Amino acid sequence: MTSRLSIEDVEISGRRVLVRVDYNVPLQEGTSVISDDTRIRASIPTLRHLIDEGCSLVLCSHLGRPKGKRYPELSLKPIAKRLGEILEQKVQFVDNCVSEAAATAALKLGKGEILLLENLRFHRGEEENSLAFAKQLSVLAEVFINDAFGTAHRAHASISGITKFLPSYAGLLLNKEVNYLENILENPKLPFTAILGGAKVSDKIKVIDRLTKIANNICIGGGMAATFLAASNKGIGNSPIEANFINQAQILLNKKDSNNVNLILPNDVVVIKTFHKDSDFLVKSVDDLDDEDIIVDIGPATADYYSSIIRKSKTILWNGPMGVYEWRKASAGTHSVAKALAKGSMLSIIGGGSTVDAVNFFGLQAQMTHVSTGGGASLELLEGRDLPGVASLRQKTKG
Ligand code: 3PG
Repeated sequence: MTSRLSIEDVEISGRRVLVRVDYNVPLQEGTSVISDDTRIRASIPTLRHLIDEGCSLVLCSHLGRPKGKRYPELSLKPIAKRLGEILEQKVQFVDNCVSEAAATAALKLGKGEILLLENLRFHRGEEENSLAFAKQLSVLAEVFINDAFGTAHRAHASISGITKFLPSYAGLLLNKEVNYLENILENPKLPFTAILGGAKVSDKIKVIDRLTKIANNICIGGGMAATFLAASNKGIGNSPIEANFINQAQILLNKKDSNNVNLILPNDVVVIKTFHKDSDFLVKSVDDLDDEDIIVDIGPATADYYSSIIRKSKTILWNGPMGVYEWRKASAGTHSVAKALAKGSMLSIIGGGSTVDAVNFFGLQAQMTHVSTGGGASLELLEGRDLPGVASLRQKTKG
């Protein structure tokens, strides 16, 4: 697992480097205005390291899912501007990642200068992991660096194929993310508690299965709690469930004794009768739900119980909000978990995607040990899958 080399382990002074970053940032609807630049900021330590080493930097990324077509609103040009503002230096831009213009601009780069290429996914070859496309990218540099943890679960040309053509190393962000997540799976400080929520059980079932063998406690919340409650024959009212997963949820609940893990479901919940933020919100025991009740948050007793477990834990992995945290009256469960983590001295790892949005929403990001930039990538890693972006670096550096 450790044969991946990072840019800190190798001599790259003065080299022309192709850096795969994940600048797939959220945009304000229907515009190309960046609404959250966390992923751009997360790449800065690697870029600074390379600038300090006197490298010339060619950066590449995808944005959205254009499927081989050009969409002006998915151009990376505004990202070049934002990156330039953050670094306080000019970031050049070329509007085709595989072109004469890109090759000429890359060759002309001086020490510490930066060129950002246009969206990789404007070319079909990127998602097809085309070796011809990867080769075209490879001529732009002497060394490849993958710092796109958020895209490490995709076997695409700029992640996987490219490593066949250039000496390839891990950037600081990719390395940090993989190390944190592998470490809590392989060597967590105990007690280890996983807080798992979010809408769908189907997204997390494999992660929960794996964690039942590693964690001491698994606290379930969010929309997916309803499927688990249904699996333990509790009432769920009119809450949406994934009926196909009740069986698997039951299997996990049955395994908890043999695996010696506390798999904990909410005892009380916040419910509404029509799915709207101005509905009447009521706290009910899970034994007392009406047929029309829809669960939108864990209740206060459950939130207190989960917080007390968090306070006694040395390692916490949190993936998935406890309720519809964007609605004030359904936000208390998610907020309590975030506050318990923020106050504690335990190692707190926040999975990507909506959990990060929730932590940001409550302004508590800085109090967490590590907030992942990868949603799908962190889930796949936690499931135990070998991510193509990590595997390709390992294979390359072995040889
Ligand atoms: C993400 O945001 O999860 C990554 O950038 C990967 O994007 P994708 O799901 O479109 O491949």
